[in-house]
Amino acid sequence: MSADRRLLISWHSQGYGQMEPKKWHTWTAAQVSIAESQSVKEPFPWVGYLHVAKQLGLTRDCGWDLCQLLPGTHMNVRQAAQNYLRGCTLKPSVRQDFETFRGSYLYEVYVETAAVMPRVDNQALWIIDRHALKHWSGSLPLLHLILKGGEGVKSLAQVADLIQVWRKKGQPRHWNILGGGSLCDSAAYAAHLSGCTFTLLPTTLLAMVDACVGGKCGVNLPPWGKNIVGAFAYPQGVKAALGFLSSLSTVEVHSGLCEALKHTFIAGLREDAQTICSWFARPPVWEKPGLHLDLLARNCKVKAEVIAQDATEQSGLRHCLNYGHTLGHALESLAIARQQPMEHGICVAFGICFANHLGAALQITEPDFVTEVETLLFPILARYSRRLLVSTGLGASSADAAQLWRQILHDKKKRATGETITHWIFLRTWGCLQHTSEGYLTAVEASLFATQWQSFQQKIVQLTPC
Ligand SMILES: NC(=O)c1ccc[n+]([C@@H]2O[C@H](COP(=O)([O-])OP(=O)(O)OC[C@H]3O[C@@H](n4cnc5c(N)ncnc54)[C@H](O)[C@@H]3O)[C@@H](O)[C@H]2O)c1
Ligand SMILES: [Zn+2]
Repeated sequence: MSADRRLLISWHSQGYGQMEPKKWHTWTAAQVSIAESQSVKEPFPWVGYLHVAKQLGLTRDCGWDLCQLLPGTHMNVRQAAQNYLRGCTLKPSVRQDFETFRGSYLYEVYVETAAVMPRVDNQALWIIDRHALKHWSGSLPLLHLILKGGEGVKSLAQVADLIQVWRKKGQPRHWNILGGGSLCDSAAYAAHLSGCTFTLLPTTLLAMVDACVGGKCGVNLPPWGKNIVGAFAYPQGVKAALGFLSSLSTVEVHSGLCEALKHTFIAGLREDAQTICSWFARPPVWEKPGLHLDLLARNCKVKAEVIAQDATEQSGLRHCLNYGHTLGHALESLAIARQQPMEHGICVAFGICFANHLGAALQITEPDFVTEVETLLFPILARYSRRLLVSTGLGASSADAAQLWRQILHDKKKRATGETITHWIFLRTWGCLQHTSEGYLTAVEASLFATQWQSFQQKIVQLTPC
């Protein structure tokens, strides 16, 4: 069956962790011994190092120097470096090659779900999100595992289970992963750790427009926040069928639309943003999905074009995709910690409005753009603000800003600059990223964050229906 739309996604990188470190951390024998002892209760023998690295506040641009360790004793620390924040540079490196790795894969969009189902497949391992099963027609593949999707699958314990299932099923060389962004992130990471190839078959809007484009996979590491452990691992291909969207809950639809909006702001696709926002009230995507193929393909292309230029965050351009995520991830992590998860895209919508609010205070973001985005997004913020405040426990206390700041520091993956500064992506206006000689990230001080969070929080409270 030929695809209704096709997109070629290209990437190149210099191998894992081969970015130029801004500084080095020299691992000591004492730190190694703490890490090894912490690993005992973890599913992988190298996980203790990730906890120690987080405790030490190591960011992705900090290389790991192993010179003080005895040669041949640091297998686990090497593996930890490969998986910490998707890969840190090692010294001494066993890989002397700085060769560039490159590749490409096809992202195929179909309308009908039948297009992505196997006729007969006795070879590959299928990991299937239980919710997507309702669309299944015919018999299930011989080697399959059905999982309850959602953020809960993004754990190292789940990855370890998946690898065990893969072993029990005879170690097939290829995985097909059918599900939302969470399942795709987790199972793709398990496939990568198993040395297998994989195909992604996204079943949520968010996974289609974002999570399945770009080669990031991985899981969360409590209490440290989202996506602390993972890798850059590219699928053999992506096949999205819009027919899956018909069974999504309203909030999952809204979540996907918010993430798609992020791309329209970054790329300056104003008309697409207006169309997407008109879908908040009555999403038509799945009633006649074929009608919206062009808009969705254009949306995926925004991310694909960034990936083509900076797949592994080496030049820094890829950071722009984190627009709205500095606060968004912190909100999401607080909600997860309280076992009341909030949908990723909804948290990002709050994060986008707050980034603009903060950007305006820094005289970076144009007031007209702030107002226009608020007009587009405030109906969604109003709809979910009560739930957000309850889920995160934010909303009443003056300690909220400090709590959020701590979470942002916990989540921090790049730029090591202590406890008083965090880095943000700002847009000046439609399609216009704030960029200085320092790159795409702008430093924000804790005191400014606190005052701006308080004024933004008041806006949210005012939006919240009584
Ligand atoms: N790797 C990346 O580059 C990237 C980018 C963006 C987001 N993400 C990650 O994606 C995750 C969010 O993904 P998501 O929004 O797809 O949510 P999700 O995968 O958590 O799924 C949400 C819910 O929808 C259900 N579901 C899946 N398909 C369905 C269908 N067709 N019909 C009905 N229900 C269905 C799932 O079982 C789950 O209960 C977050 O963890 C986020 O960090 C990753
Ligand atoms: Zn996102």
